[in-house]
Formats: sequence, structure tokens, C-alpha cells
Amino acid sequence: MFAKSFVIGYFQSMAEAQKGHTVVLGVAGGIACYKAVELVRLLVRDGFSVQVLMTREAMEFVTPLTFQTLSGHPVATEIFSLTQESEIGHINLADQAEVFVIAPATANIIGKIAAGIADDLLTTVVMATRAPVLIAPSMNVHMYGNPILQENIRKLKRLGYNFMEPAEGYLACGYEGKGRLPEPEEIVEQVRGLLKKKDLAGEKLLITAGPNHEAIDPVRYLTSRSSGKMGYALARAGVRRGAEVTLISGPTSLPPPAGTRLVRVKTAAEMREAVMDAFPQSTAVVMAAAVADYSPERFIPRKLKKGEKPIQLHLKPNPDILKELGAKKNGQILVGFAAETEELVANAKKKLREKNLDLIVANDVTAEGSGFEGDTNVATILDRKGNVQPLPLMTKEELADRIYNHLLALKNEQ
Ligand code: C5P
Repeated sequence: MFAKSFVIGYFQSMAEAQKGHTVVLGVAGGIACYKAVELVRLLVRDGFSVQVLMTREAMEFVTPLTFQTLSGHPVATEIFSLTQESEIGHINLADQAEVFVIAPATANIIGKIAAGIADDLLTTVVMATRAPVLIAPSMNVHMYGNPILQENIRKLKRLGYNFMEPAEGYLACGYEGKGRLPEPEEIVEQVRGLLKKKDLAGEKLLITAGPNHEAIDPVRYLTSRSSGKMGYALARAGVRRGAEVTLISGPTSLPPPAGTRLVRVKTAAEMREAVMDAFPQSTAVVMAAAVADYSPERFIPRKLKKGEKPIQLHLKPNPDILKELGAKKNGQILVGFAAETEELVANAKKKLREKNLDLIVANDVTAEGSGFEGDTNVATILDRKGNVQPLPLMTKEELADRIYNHLLALKNEQ
């Protein structure tokens, strides 16, 4: 019950935040049109005002009525229709757009935009808009790999158009590979990013996420219950607010956050090396990874055989990466996490001091809605000045934003 009302509250506050923002969605003719329907539903749920325009080919896949019903606005399809022009107006659409999304974008539409052709409603409005344009391609894997299309994408990116990478997987044409329209949730995330103020512009964030795998033998390893969700939420929020983000991730099953430099590692030693490499170029470090505290003293090169008797595993302590950074920091803001099961604030304060941190995010991993695998967290943010800010239950995305707000406040006082 608690969780449900929280989720409703979350979407309500999200809808408040997006109220009044107009997204114009151009739908081109591809089988992924059916996902554009879901995209409209999600945008409307988040409080956006959505104006849909469709190419003639798109109408072969989905009817305008579907989009009209979900968006609550008439759908524009024709440039030379007198009724549509007086009701909607193509220049009106171009001017109203705060973000212009094309999903799905076919090779044909991308080619026309790149060549400056405006021979239908969609291409005309794209040419006339001054809003940021987000293009989400979807097509056959070989069409996507075609050098002409790739050249067109490079050209448009150079001119400031934003592209999403298609996802990999089963394609409607029967092939497997890159060409699927990204998930509608991810497209909404990009739209939010294009609207949000870029108050982390100029920051070079180094973020760690996930667990470590410390190998015992070729088939077994030691690990923790960390999912990596907090670190990945921090990476997405950082990109959205304009930071340059390097994400050093232990093994997770999460999709790579768009727009980050992702470095994948397994062990704590590999994580340490990757962090030390990127540290001198960073302005802030957020250590959300659940770094393994111990690793097996020696790796057993062959699979350990099952036996009747108990066996002993000798573990050696791993280096404390954050502590090392605390000792050598040179202007960087250091943010640590403290997953605690008791004495939350006292233990977090001790870590903040001992590791020479600027901020620490403490959470009681045994509390409801808090901890490793879920999408929410209950945390307390403590800073080097002695401020202690307990926060209510919120999504990891929201917590990421709170952490950055605190980080910016500290930075402004420096
Ligand atoms: O000391 P404790 O493990 O609770 O500290 C947690 C913080 O320290 C986290 O931010 C974690 O990423 C970091 N840490 C580290 N290296 C370790 C252990 C923890 O950087 N070996």
C-alpha cells in the first residue's frame, strides 16, 4: 500500500515538473510505430503536452485516431490540407515544440533531413523548428549499418541533432542485430534530459557502480547483493544535467546509460586501477560501488572438487579505493556511500572523517524501500561541514538529483 501510494505520488510530482512542456512527436513509417503509441502514453503520463504528426507511410501501420485519442490533440498528417493547416498549422507546430522527437526514424527520413529535403509535413516541420531534435532510428540491421545512413547520422550529429542508438535484438524483418527502437522509457528519459537545466556543465564526474566478482576458482566467485542501480541512476542524472560522466561498473545486468563513458571491470583491483586512471581528470568522484572488502588469497586454477570435509577459504583485504582518493585529492569533491545496518549516522560520520570525504550518503540497508536491489532508497546525506540531511523514501533517480544538489551547494561555498 505504502509503495503503491509512493509510486502514484512520484508520477504526480513528475507530471507537475513537466507540465506545460510541449513535445512534438514525428512518427515515420516503420513497424516500430506501435512503440510510438506507448511513447505518447508515457509522455502524457509525465505531464507533457504531445502533438503528433505522422508521415503517410506511418499511417499504414497505425491510424491517426490511436495517437489522437492518447495525446488528446488532433494529429497532423498533411501539409496541403486546408482544414489541418488552419487548425494546427505547420509553422505553429515547429514553434510550439520544446523538444522535437522523431520515433521511429527511418533511413529515408534521416536521409531527407540530412539532404535538406522538406517534401512532407514531418520534414518541413523539422526544418522549421528551433527546438532540440531527438532522433530515434529503427530499421533493418543492414540498413542501419549502411555507410550512406551512417554518413547522414554523422552529418546531422555535427549539426547538433541528437541521436539515440538503436537497441540490439530480434528485428521484425527476421534478422537479429542493431535496429530496434530504444525502449519508450529511455526516449522519455532523453526528452527530460533535453529540457533540464544543465547545472553540472563543466563537471567531469567519475562514478563507480555495482558489485565486484572476486574469483575463487574458474567457476566460482565472491560477490555482494549490489545491483548497480544507484550508480547507474547517478550516471543518467549526471548526463542529463550536462556533466561529462565516466562510469566504472562492476558486473551488472543493467543497460549502459546513454552518453557516458562506460568502463567495465570485475574485481576490486581492476576497479581501483580504472578509478586511479580517471581520477586526475575528474572534478568529482561518487563511489556508489559496493567494493569487495576481501578477495581470496590465491586463485585456485582448477575447479575445486566437491568433498565431504569442510574447507577453509583464506581471504585478504582489498585496498580501500575511496580512502586512497581521500589522501590524494586535489580539489575534487569526494562522495562516498555508507550501507549500514546499525548506528547509521555515527558510522557514516566516522567514514566521512576517516576517508576525508566531502559528502557521504548513508542508508540503512535493512529499512523498507532501502538498499540494494530495489528502485527506491531511504538515505541521509552528511557533509564535511557537519550538516545532516535525512531524506524520505524516494526513487534512486531522485536521490541522485539530491546528491548533486548538495554537491553543487558545497562547491559554491568553496
Ligand atoms: O567502509 P565502507 O565499505 O562502508 O565504505 C563505503 C564507501 O567506501 C563506498 O563509497 C565504497 O564505494 C567505498 N569503498 C572503497 N573501497 C573499498 C571499500 C569501500 O572505495 N575497498
